[in-house]
Amino acid sequence: MKKQTSEVQSTAFTSVMEEHRLFHPSKEFARNAHVNSMEVYKRMYKESILNPEKFWSDVAEDLYWFKKWKQTKVWKAPDAKWFNGGLTNLAYNCLDRHLTNWHRTKAAIIWEGEPGETRILTYQVLHREVCKFANVLGKMGIEKGDRVAVYMGMVPELAIAILACARIGAVHTVVFGGFSAEALKDRINDAGAKLVITCDAAIRRGTLVMLKPAVDKALESCPTVQNVIVYRRVNEVQITMSPGRDHWWHEIIQSVNDKHEAEHLPSEHPLFILYTSGTTGKPKGILHTTGGYMVNTYFTSKLVFDLKDDDIYWCTADVGWVTGHSYVVYGPLLNGATTLMYEGAPNHPEPDRFWKIIDKYRVNIFYTAPTAIRAFIRWGEQWVLKHELTSLRLLGSVGEPINPEAWMWYYKIVGKQKCPIVDTWWQTETGAIMLSPLPGVTPLKPGSCTMPLPGVVPEVVDKEGNPVPDGSGGYLILKDTWPSMLRTIYGDKNRFKKQYWSEYKGYYFTGDGARRDKDGYFWVMGRVDDVINVAGHRLGTAEIESALVSHHDVAEAAVVARPDDIKGSAIVAFVSLESSKIPSLLLKEELRNHVASEIGHIAKPDEIRFTDTLPKTRSGKIMRRLLREIATSGSIKGDVSTLEDFSALEKLRDEDQ
Ligand code: WT7
Repeated sequence: MKKQTSEVQSTAFTSVMEEHRLFHPSKEFARNAHVNSMEVYKRMYKESILNPEKFWSDVAEDLYWFKKWKQTKVWKAPDAKWFNGGLTNLAYNCLDRHLTNWHRTKAAIIWEGEPGETRILTYQVLHREVCKFANVLGKMGIEKGDRVAVYMGMVPELAIAILACARIGAVHTVVFGGFSAEALKDRINDAGAKLVITCDAAIRRGTLVMLKPAVDKALESCPTVQNVIVYRRVNEVQITMSPGRDHWWHEIIQSVNDKHEAEHLPSEHPLFILYTSGTTGKPKGILHTTGGYMVNTYFTSKLVFDLKDDDIYWCTADVGWVTGHSYVVYGPLLNGATTLMYEGAPNHPEPDRFWKIIDKYRVNIFYTAPTAIRAFIRWGEQWVLKHELTSLRLLGSVGEPINPEAWMWYYKIVGKQKCPIVDTWWQTETGAIMLSPLPGVTPLKPGSCTMPLPGVVPEVVDKEGNPVPDGSGGYLILKDTWPSMLRTIYGDKNRFKKQYWSEYKGYYFTGDGARRDKDGYFWVMGRVDDVINVAGHRLGTAEIESALVSHHDVAEAAVVARPDDIKGSAIVAFVSLESSKIPSLLLKEELRNHVASEIGHIAKPDEIRFTDTLPKTRSGKIMRRLLREIATSGSIKGDVSTLEDFSALEKLRDEDQ
């Protein structure tokens, strides 16, 4: 982009043989599972494809509707409506629906703070807090359809805030607490948020992440924001409150009623916007709506995690990501489950914090990311083996392909060879899990997300959209709509159409490469566009490039990924400087920090390489394949005949780290 004017510890037991072995659920697991045989899965799948209306309508009947829908599915690609004409409320289904039976005294959220506190909110208590906060939102002048930005750490109040938004029909947009003030500002402005909900600070790895000061900085240029609500997580920290605009959560909650009637919202009423990276510098505001998202997250949570009433379920994701929306908050609560929320880092104070938590609360279902698993491997299995982990019955993985070595380690060291692993493939855009084993049914192959869930029609195709033979690689598409499909990119219908629906007409393009093997198992290989997955976080190379060129010393930048043993991918930036500027280690550090302040720490390049010019094709396109090769191996293969400036190549090759 141009300016305008450690190795994973190889585990001895992982042989190639094992990677091709099938791992079956135990008889006991299968017997008790919601879906308990391959025949049942196959029948369900077939019914869901032959008659999706009937299939999804039956699922939706499990939930509460103020008024039943008229049409289950209205589909003219790329526009979908689900449960059209129906009136419902997601927060009502997560909370009120459970208050008429014994669930009202059940733990809805078990929260552990990083310093060690525990809070347990029963369904009844959570309901009351959400009702109160819904009234607070009303007091702040928030109405149906208004956007509310939420920028908080992992505290129960984050769940309360989004449930309260859903309850009144306000559209929440959660911004991950690790994003910078600059990134927050862009998202607030794109969404046109009227209110920001934040914390004084978040606690992470024993230190404070100052959230409120970042909000103050962002709001210097956010004209739509009228009020800020601040939850006090860290008492002693000094922050400034701007009179008239800023309100303490604990003060404003005092003066409201704890009764609130949930809004009767049309099924297609917007529920949330969640920003995710794409192939341009500007993040996309993925818009999800109420009814379809509710039905799909309810259904997938129940089947994939085989949720039972006596389970303690823990998904380690931050609510700043879609996994946290769908599988920390909404999906589990829709099922009346107990969901555990942990505030902090996996290695604080020691690398066994997760295993300690599992034993302390007797967690049964544990859902985390491959990048975390690879970090655990590196920290050493002794940290795991110190703990019993006998309560675990099911493990899950999400966010990126899990390498078979990591899978085997997870299976043996954490799951003691008795817990199935559900490797779940999905995206911010899909809202819910699309490809995944069913734990009581599917024989597992380490590294494969196995098969589509009911209602999902994946296909692997070539550039022209023709299905490729089994075993060959291609592009992963989804051929029919599903209830929790994104409805648009907020404020940019054209980008929505172009991004997802123009490549293969009428079909949804995932942006992932994949292959299907002869047994019908899917193997997702990762992104095929200019999106990189760093430690399970999605980042656009263009976004990082635009952050780099916004620095006064930078003329041009190209960002590529190179494989990394822990994070999956590491970020390598090739940077050419303005003519008078001199490369230095100091400048490298300054540029890395500049990216952190433009986007957030997660986007900091792992490596910066200065170069006079970037290699380009005759049409001026940066040759990313070449840069990827240089970043990965230092050597260059293949055809470079379209290179404009060969000298650039030599320079890059010689450039030291
Ligand atoms: C991208 C979506 C899904 C919620 C978290 C990330 C990659 C995700 C898997 C998996 C292989 C996976 C894909 C996808 N991905 N899960 N089980 N196996 N790849 O959501 O930030 O929207 O990223 O993550 O590349 O397109 P996201």
